[in-house]
Amino acid sequence: MGRIFKVGIFDSGIGGLTVLSECVKLMPENRYFYLGDNFRAPYGSRPPQEIAACVREALVRFREMNADAAVLACNTATAVCAEKMRSEFSFPIVGTEPAVKPASERCGRVLVLATPRTTESERLRKLVARYHDACNITVFALEGLAAAVESAVVRGKALDLREHLPQGNYDGIVLGCTHYVYFKKEIEAFYSAPVFDGGEGTARQLRSVLGKQRNIEFSENLGIDDHFSDSLTAEGYNANNCSGKMPKNEGISSNLGIFFIGNAKNINKRVYEQMFIS
Ligand code: DGL
Repeated sequence: MGRIFKVGIFDSGIGGLTVLSECVKLMPENRYFYLGDNFRAPYGSRPPQEIAACVREALVRFREMNADAAVLACNTATAVCAEKMRSEFSFPIVGTEPAVKPASERCGRVLVLATPRTTESERLRKLVARYHDACNITVFALEGLAAAVESAVVRGKALDLREHLPQGNYDGIVLGCTHYVYFKKEIEAFYSAPVFDGGEGTARQLRSVLGKQRNIEFSENLGIDDHFSDSLTAEGYNANNCSGKMPKNEGISSNLGIFFIGNAKNINKRVYEQMFIS
């Protein structure tokens, strides 16, 4: 029998549910523990130290649950503190990376949309520099779109994308925030251009990291997130037995091996079931 891994997935709110759904599609056999920090969202304009403190709290929770790996299903958290967290926790931490590589391979003019903390990060600067020769990349910070998406999806509040998105002619749009994925089709229509998001790449990276975990007794930090690197090996994944249990009454479960934890567990469970389970 294959091993069932316990994976903690974290985001500031509902954005990471888009990543969770990709992980479930790719590895339905695992147990997923989704922790959204919805009541402190959005993170995108918060000071980096504050974001790191919130992320640390979530990862401590995953450590207490003996998670095999954690996913920062949040570009902002990844950009601000993925490296720092990898130095503090012994389980692999997979980050979320804007899909700049696939967009740059297909498009001449690329627009990257992300939160202020992500757009000003060293991490995004390096990623863009790597692909800038292949195409023209514009990075744009969206101050309020993540919060507007959270309100629209959770509370049904109207969202007018024209109030948020910059005008311009682009051949490809990169969604550098997991919240934006809920409006992927609308953003595609707004620019009449294909939209790229990093959700599937993150799931593939998780699969690669868990695959390695089969063979390696890791006392050191694994989980370098470079989803689109050539070294990514998605093949050969084969799991072994599961050990450890989620503490009772800790979370609420869906019937798919997904547990929603934290004080916004009901919100995230409802949104996940509405948006991703038909
Ligand atoms: N969903 C997150 C991201 O990918 C965070 C958005 C926010 O809380 O501002 O960046």
